[in-house]
Amino acid sequence: MPKIIMSQHDSIRAVEWKDNHLVLLDQRKLPHNEQFIALYSADDTAEAIRNMVVRGAPAIGIAAAYAVVMAARKSYKQYPQDWRQRLLAEIEMLKNSRPTAVNLMWALNRMCEAADDIQGDPEYPLLELAKKIHQDDIDANYRMGELGSALIAPSHGVLTHCNTGSLATGGYGTALGVIRSAYSKGIIEHVYADETRPWWQGSRLTAWELVKDKIPAHLLCDSAAAHLMKLGKVSWVIVGSDRIAANGDVANKIGTYSLAVNARYHGVKFMVVAPTSTIDLATLCGNDIPIEERPQDEVLNVSNQRIAAYHTQAWNPAFDVTPASLVDALVTEKGVIENPTAEKIAALMAS
Ligand code: MRU
Repeated sequence: MPKIIMSQHDSIRAVEWKDNHLVLLDQRKLPHNEQFIALYSADDTAEAIRNMVVRGAPAIGIAAAYAVVMAARKSYKQYPQDWRQRLLAEIEMLKNSRPTAVNLMWALNRMCEAADDIQGDPEYPLLELAKKIHQDDIDANYRMGELGSALIAPSHGVLTHCNTGSLATGGYGTALGVIRSAYSKGIIEHVYADETRPWWQGSRLTAWELVKDKIPAHLLCDSAAAHLMKLGKVSWVIVGSDRIAANGDVANKIGTYSLAVNARYHGVKFMVVAPTSTIDLATLCGNDIPIEERPQDEVLNVSNQRIAAYHTQAWNPAFDVTPASLVDALVTEKGVIENPTAEKIAALMAS
């Protein structure tokens, strides 16, 4: 198996398998504390996914794949005759940890299918598959970095939303991988990153990754994006995705849809960067994508400090759906689709 490669602009790994357990960089503590936590069970991993210790669609899929290894070890030890049934229950529990990112279900389905064919101790073969899922994601990100950066004409800047970097993936990143590639080739000079309310993935995570990689960047309030586009400071908006429906509709972090609408109005191009594990052919269109609604407190409070007036209620959808018609380019590791449609996506997935 090829070893994980670190390019000049890729210095972070948030999900790692060490000896017999999973190690996660606790993303709730960033950017002020780089604290790692060790996990030894599927239950603890599901909790870590729910609580945003690990987040980002590909990263939660990879963490869940490693969780299946730990669940299989436990099931085989306790019930050597009946381990598969026990494992299925743990896989179902992991699937329910977050609803929108389909990479979670995709990785768990792959682990589940592999478990079906195993005779004897399942730990080693499942660990090999989890490591492959992890490495394939990194390879896909490097490939998408090449393909996506090739679409960008030399320009001052690009805008991104949420965190799509090494922290959100196996490494390097989806949208941030394209940005890393474009910067390292001298195609872009500057990155604008939305702070991304209410979890601040932009301020706490993307800005941290960009500073670490010495890529010049400005953070902006989510509501400043339209003004930025009007001033002509960005040529592309580049985002990741949590699930892409068969017709090309794109679910991503809340706020992405407004960026796409604003980009079209201002003549700024809109690029979605996602591995094919994010494409869900079983979900026909964006209306069918389950959108996670998170607790009100995430909006009413900032860093545990109450901001909103007491007795205020808040609505906190974590994702929104951008219609395919607003997407100029969908970049996957299998190739680029311009102006995605159901037919083009079906052909790409069949290739
Ligand atoms: O709620 P999060 O932080 O898990 O949401 C993450 C995103 O929306 C990312 O943009 C998405 O997963 C694509 S990135 C690899």
